[in-house]
Amino acid sequence: MPIHFSEKDKTFKLDTNNSSYIIAVYEENYLLNLYYGAFIPDSFVPNRAMRTPNASFSPANPVIGEHGFSPDTAPIEYGTSGAGDFRIAALEIENSNGDSVTDIRYTGYKIYDGKKEIPKMPSSYVNSDSEAQTLEIYAEDSVTGAQVTLYYTVFQKYDVITRRVRVTNGSMKKMRLERAMSLCLDLPDMDYDLISLYGCHAKERNIERRPLAHGIQGVESRRGSSSHNQNPFIALAKSGADEDRGEVYGFNLVYSGNFSALAECDFNCTTRVVMGIEPQTFSWELKSGEYFDTPEAVMVFTAQGIGEMSRIFHRFYNNNLIRGRYKTEKRPLLINSWEAAYFDFDADKLVAFAKEAKKLGVELLVMDDGWFGKRNDDTSSLGDWFVNEEKLPGGLSKLIERVNAEGLKFGIWYEPEMISPDSELFRAHPDWCVRVEGREPMLGRNQYVIDMSREDVRNNIWEQMYNVLSQNNIEYLKWDFNRNITDAGSALLPPERKKEFFHRFVLGTYDLMNRLVTTFPNILFENCSGGGGRFDPAMLCYSPQIWASDNTDPIERLYIQFGTSMCYPASAMGAHVSASNRTGYDTKCNVARWGTFGLELDPTKLTENEADIIRRQIKEYHRNYELVNRGDLYRLVSPFENPYRAAWQLVLPDKSRTMVTLVTMREECHQHLIVRLRGLEPNAYYKNEQTGEVLSGALLMNAGLTLTNTAGYTGESVAIYFERV
Ligand code: DGJ
Repeated sequence: MPIHFSEKDKTFKLDTNNSSYIIAVYEENYLLNLYYGAFIPDSFVPNRAMRTPNASFSPANPVIGEHGFSPDTAPIEYGTSGAGDFRIAALEIENSNGDSVTDIRYTGYKIYDGKKEIPKMPSSYVNSDSEAQTLEIYAEDSVTGAQVTLYYTVFQKYDVITRRVRVTNGSMKKMRLERAMSLCLDLPDMDYDLISLYGCHAKERNIERRPLAHGIQGVESRRGSSSHNQNPFIALAKSGADEDRGEVYGFNLVYSGNFSALAECDFNCTTRVVMGIEPQTFSWELKSGEYFDTPEAVMVFTAQGIGEMSRIFHRFYNNNLIRGRYKTEKRPLLINSWEAAYFDFDADKLVAFAKEAKKLGVELLVMDDGWFGKRNDDTSSLGDWFVNEEKLPGGLSKLIERVNAEGLKFGIWYEPEMISPDSELFRAHPDWCVRVEGREPMLGRNQYVIDMSREDVRNNIWEQMYNVLSQNNIEYLKWDFNRNITDAGSALLPPERKKEFFHRFVLGTYDLMNRLVTTFPNILFENCSGGGGRFDPAMLCYSPQIWASDNTDPIERLYIQFGTSMCYPASAMGAHVSASNRTGYDTKCNVARWGTFGLELDPTKLTENEADIIRRQIKEYHRNYELVNRGDLYRLVSPFENPYRAAWQLVLPDKSRTMVTLVTMREECHQHLIVRLRGLEPNAYYKNEQTGEVLSGALLMNAGLTLTNTAGYTGESVAIYFERV
């Protein structure tokens, strides 16, 4: 059983195959974290409660007395504000007296097989109840009446523990949540590097690694979405840990709005990690009996390095987060019209794209932005989700018939959370945009954000989308989101609830997405936000793939894809070949084949030679679909560490087949390249598909592949396949 309560020790022990997590019920019912790390058989770790017996000014609990225990220094399982724990609080409740002192103590627990859904919010799931076990720990603040449930679900096989929290107002009066984090974890040391993913539009998810220092450090978003700028992912890697070795904790928040992921190191040289909804832009009123659910956080621990942490996330997300028809079914290979035509298209042009793309082996045409209202540039029509008959005479069904007749499926673009000031919808409902009284809302890409927190607004957008999707043979939908949220406010929210706006907006978006995916289960959804501005686990619950970046330059993409792969699987990483010209088509294809693979170019403009390369690469894509979609990833040479080249490898889970890709970003003085492979069976033999050479797994992993004179020039690349013999 992965979860066990020891009466003797008063501890909860949560075990995965390779990790253990221990929570103790201490004196006066304080909940303490005794351990999180590599698997141990014991259910108690001695001497963890009292860290520094003589810590200066650390307050004592009046009942326990001053014999060494202090909430200031103890490894508190879920830290609260104002009651002796001075580190970042996970929970802060303003009660009806106006004070925010919050102090929760253990009252009971429940253990059961499987996992409950979070109402109205996306989260990971079990395929059967035997796949995971859940522990609910109950705690209460006897003064405010707040009842807190800490949820832990243990996915034993995956080395994953998910966490979330529910706060219920058990008093007769109102209370206000000032912060309610999804995860709080106290570690007994601070000898870690913090890894996070920073970026901006077209340069998403750069890997940044820095040693922890005393004080607070971490990443946040206050942009209304998970954002290009920081991803809701952090890892703590033991100093010196690398791709293959060392202890690593990974944390990822299943949420698409403002988030906070912080680590605080105190005078005791211990570390507290908190992750959840960003508190500065949040508060939530709870009337008597009401409850609030935090989003879910996913925790991974491995002693096998950063690479294994990533593979754990990938396997878990492929099996327990991504859902729907295209979780397992092969997804159609697509061509997208955006970089080929931008707003400048009509039906004939799209049909010409379809005709040429079909010859290359493409299976679906996506008509991107510009098909609705009177939209010919980005200054109008968001919110007017009806077809522009001037561009597409005869409407969508006529166009789709023609595309289908060319042998391609048809996909469409939407940006449902936005409204253009120049739109029929805005003229009819100027109060539907996100704004606050007395201020002119800011524009971003000439557009306002529509108030997704309102049900009437969502119903309108839903009806418009339903009309189009139910009447036409649409088999793919790209959902875009192209600005940050300012002037956060909703005309319907009373003053005391104004700070609920951001979270209500996110819940509204989830509601609309949920209606779509359940009503149209056969549509393949792809998320997008000005490229990869909302690449987060919550979005993966609605769309199995997310457009990783508007930057399709294959060298820039190396950085974006290495960073994205920290926790997101290749199956989810939207990657297309475009007409960008820094490298030839082979390299563009080799890089895009690490992700969902597709085209983002005008196929009528390809030379014979370019078309031949793409045709060959598409065949390779189809042949190796499983390898990319289900394979284990090994980052062999990172562009963040090596200025000359990048290399990665995908291996089928049964180790029978692998693809190794190497890209030269810049020539070295020599072209003597050696790449040592990973993840193979040392005693098995593997045949190089191109050369017929048969080599042992041990040789490939220890001596490595010698690629001298292969792909040594700037912009060149190779993709090599080995099959077990
Ligand atoms: C931003 C997306 O990232 C692009 O792929 C494209 O869909 C444009 N928006 C359309 O406006």
